[in-house]
Amino acid sequence: MKTIIEPFRIKSVEPIYFNTKEERISILEKASHNAFLIHAHDVLIDLLTDSGTSAMSSEQWSGIMRGDESYAGSPSYYRFKQVVQDITKMPEVIPTHQGRAAEKILFSILGGKGKYFVSNTLFDTTRANIEFSGANGVDLLCEEGKKPGIPAPFKGNIDIEALELFILEKGANNIPLCIITVTNNSGGGQPVSMQNIRDTRAVCNKYNIPLFIDACRFAENCYFIQQREEGYQNKTILEIANELFSYADGCTMSAKKDAFANIGGFLAMNNPKLAQECRNLLIITEGFPTYGGLAGRDLEAIAIGLQEVMDVNYLHYRIRSTEYLSNKLIAAGVPVMQPAGGHAVYIDAKAFLPHIPVDQYPGQVLVGALYIEGGIRSVEIGSLMFGKYDENAKLIPAAMELVRLAIPRRVYTQSHIDYVAEVIIEVFEKRDELKGLEITEEAPLLRHFTAKLKPVSQ
Ligand code: F0G
Repeated sequence: MKTIIEPFRIKSVEPIYFNTKEERISILEKASHNAFLIHAHDVLIDLLTDSGTSAMSSEQWSGIMRGDESYAGSPSYYRFKQVVQDITKMPEVIPTHQGRAAEKILFSILGGKGKYFVSNTLFDTTRANIEFSGANGVDLLCEEGKKPGIPAPFKGNIDIEALELFILEKGANNIPLCIITVTNNSGGGQPVSMQNIRDTRAVCNKYNIPLFIDACRFAENCYFIQQREEGYQNKTILEIANELFSYADGCTMSAKKDAFANIGGFLAMNNPKLAQECRNLLIITEGFPTYGGLAGRDLEAIAIGLQEVMDVNYLHYRIRSTEYLSNKLIAAGVPVMQPAGGHAVYIDAKAFLPHIPVDQYPGQVLVGALYIEGGIRSVEIGSLMFGKYDENAKLIPAAMELVRLAIPRRVYTQSHIDYVAEVIIEVFEKRDELKGLEITEEAPLLRHFTAKLKPVSQ
């Protein structure tokens, strides 16, 4: 087979800023060992997130110029709505400024004390919006999803048996919604199978619970279904997406991921009454229902991006390039989540740094080490992000300690990725020298964004 090449050529470039290891040591210290607090100019390769960091196409930039900025009824909104409907077949389409704004609106209406939202795994902003409403977020990931080193085709699946047991235990009346995150970002960017979504639908039907999709990376998930699930090889990504969304009553979407947009999101659903309630909130928080916190030009960029992302040549390149990095790391013995996720490679920090206990945040230690060694910015998805405290202020750790290397779409070339692999392998070779961290300052919600840390005193 021939080499898989980037399905684009580069028209416009931006510089990468170089600095030295000594400089990075002091930058990290000034940033209190939190990569979110580092200035982007001090980062060489930024793998903090694939969100809002995509390179837009020349078509999208043309759309930006075409965007109609009418306050109400902009043609850009109608183009956007049509594309979302073509993919989801959902009649109600509500633009928001990003994914979490859609979540905030939805959970403000459906949430509240004593309620439970069940999911394969909720992303951190989704969970935070649920908890902020007074409700509880519950992850029921399948067993294979919890074992980073063991490959399986659909490690993002929800545990169907556990879902039904949970519904019986808490009562269907207390569960306003089931949410399936595709792909499962916090669980390694792993896909969910069509069969699992169908089975979830059947359980939801039995207990009359609506099903929503967190659709940020729907196209990547559909590509995995096409490649890995029996019966989908000859279907287009659009056909697979149509089927996937047909099992859902609604979805939230951050257009900053698979829509290649730098900002944007939406809520889509079948229920007009719920949609009206959402629009009532939208007007006081985001804006008029035909722009919802976005400029007309953003709606154009999203509409075009949503079409571009379903190109199978693009998805082939996208998934292959993530796997390329993963394979290099596996070959060097670096413990990574297997198989590679869609948008990111996840290093198993617990296995990488077995000498650092979870209450000294091994994931965050590794994030710091990758920055110092090679100016690479990554993110901890472990106990700093998800950890809680018990009544004795003792850390309740997250299920896994992962470090995510998220690959921005259409941004970095293969030699950038080769460099990333070299840096990680270098850190791996001297991993015994790394020491734990402790938190000195933290916020009550989403603490990982702003927390300050320091090396543990020994
Ligand atoms: N759901 C998932 C699965 C996400 O990954 C994100 C964002 C959101 C919802 C919220 O969307 O950022 O537009 O408000 N994930 C980013 C990340 C931040 O780095 O993975 P948003």
